[in-house]
Amino acid sequence: MKKNNHTKTKELTDLVLEAQRKAYKETDSEPEPQLTKKIDWPIECLVGPGLEGAIACESKIGYVNGQKGWLIYRGYDIFDLCAHSTYEEVCYLLLFGELPTENQLSNFKSELVESQPRPETLRGLFSFPLEKMSAMALLRVGTNFLRQEFTYEDKLAYQKKHDKVYATDEDSIPMETKPMGEEHAIYEFKKKKRKKAAPGVDGLHSAIGLKSCYNLISGVAAITASVARLHRGAFPVEPKPELSYAGNLLYMINGTEPSPAEERIMDMSLILHADHGMNASTFAAMVVASTLSDLYFSVGSGISALNGPLHGGANERVLHMLRDIGGKENVAKWYKKKSENKEKIMGFGHRVYKAYDPRARVLQPIAEYLSNQDPETKKMYDTAATLEKEVVSSLGSKKGIFPNVDFYSGLVYHSLGIPVESFTPIFAVSRVSGWISRVMEYLENNRIFRPRAMYTGTFNKEYLPIDKR
Ligand code: SDX
Repeated sequence: MKKNNHTKTKELTDLVLEAQRKAYKETDSEPEPQLTKKIDWPIECLVGPGLEGAIACESKIGYVNGQKGWLIYRGYDIFDLCAHSTYEEVCYLLLFGELPTENQLSNFKSELVESQPRPETLRGLFSFPLEKMSAMALLRVGTNFLRQEFTYEDKLAYQKKHDKVYATDEDSIPMETKPMGEEHAIYEFKKKKRKKAAPGVDGLHSAIGLKSCYNLISGVAAITASVARLHRGAFPVEPKPELSYAGNLLYMINGTEPSPAEERIMDMSLILHADHGMNASTFAAMVVASTLSDLYFSVGSGISALNGPLHGGANERVLHMLRDIGGKENVAKWYKKKSENKEKIMGFGHRVYKAYDPRARVLQPIAEYLSNQDPETKKMYDTAATLEKEVVSSLGSKKGIFPNVDFYSGLVYHSLGIPVESFTPIFAVSRVSGWISRVMEYLENNRIFRPRAMYTGTFNKEYLPIDKR
């Protein structure tokens, strides 16, 4: 019997609640006292390479319990948020500290709809060699175009004295010929009236900060989706205000509206990736913000850090790895060779989690639920499940190596029709809410980040002219 949409979305919520029950049975959620107490600076901490163990700041935004495998946003357990909330609610929660009332949520959603990028922002991407640039490189460029929308307006007052700026204005780079099957050579989103940002702002961490938060939350999704379509030889599609954030993201990538179940799965994935303490990309964003640069440059730094295969770039590599293994029957032999070469397995291990990543606990059953969709996905899922058993049995208790958020997320995105090169940009689409929330929080008591390096070089060397060296 064909399941109706309500049954399917209820099944997905039940998967999350079952994962929560399993997690609570296997571990407890007692906070770690040394990582959840008020700080009386300066403090002593034992710091390892890569700032392991260093405490960078206080925060009320989120907490990762690495020993127990537990993640909370503003006091709410990630399982509860996945089962009952939406990404829009979670964005609001991370930014403002409380779940929104109906009225607050509706206003927040209108702000996001109104903050969609302008056509010239997306068209700016046409002026780059799209076919030679990765999706993350284009996302990085795109956030500078978003910045242009706001800072250019703000700084317009200062442009007057430089009215001879020589530059190709964006209309001087129309596409000469219309792409195959399209009626015209360039697409046009409807120009939207946008409320003026707070007048007279100088930096972006004042009133305009919030406008820029909305602009980035909407803009990173629109740029990611537009690049996914442009790379497939299709024009970007305009978001539909009646769709949810997750629904629009899938619609803008695939050009067709997702089913309620697909929308629900995308929404849960966005919730799971939104914030995660002082991870490399969040810390990068905060370091840039601490110099009083601006939110766009901060988010750009977050995107740059997330791109690395040791961080957000792992989800893409997991899918390539599963395809390379080629089937569950090859896992043992493949893993033995990797272990002998001491190679790291993508999607496993974590600087903080020495237990099962709670986000993987949610993504694994969803990947399994989706894997019955088609034989190729089923084969990759079975390969992943077999590899998990291999790695956890050899490195789990020995080194605290378990699947992390990136191990199953790629399989879920693949099942939603998302191209592999968009997996890490989708991570950025979600994490932008964590980046800007932590940046805005840190700027309330800002102090520029400036650690030291241990000098192990030499002293008192005599300078010799080049002909004497
Ligand atoms: C994310 O920080 C965050 O919160 C990140 C993130 C987020 O939400 O922002 O959770 C998202 O980035 C998840 C991680 C995605 N990356 C990968 O899946 C890449 C594979 N993982 C590894 O590169 C590694 O586990 C890291 C980078 C994630 C963590 O590295 P660490 O803490 O620096 O650990 P390490 O390299 O010092 O390794 C410690 C030991 C080593 O063995 P020994 O030399 O002590 O014998 O554990 C081993 C490592 O060889 N090890 C692994 C392994 N990860 C660590 N062995 C095999 N496979 C792995 N994946």
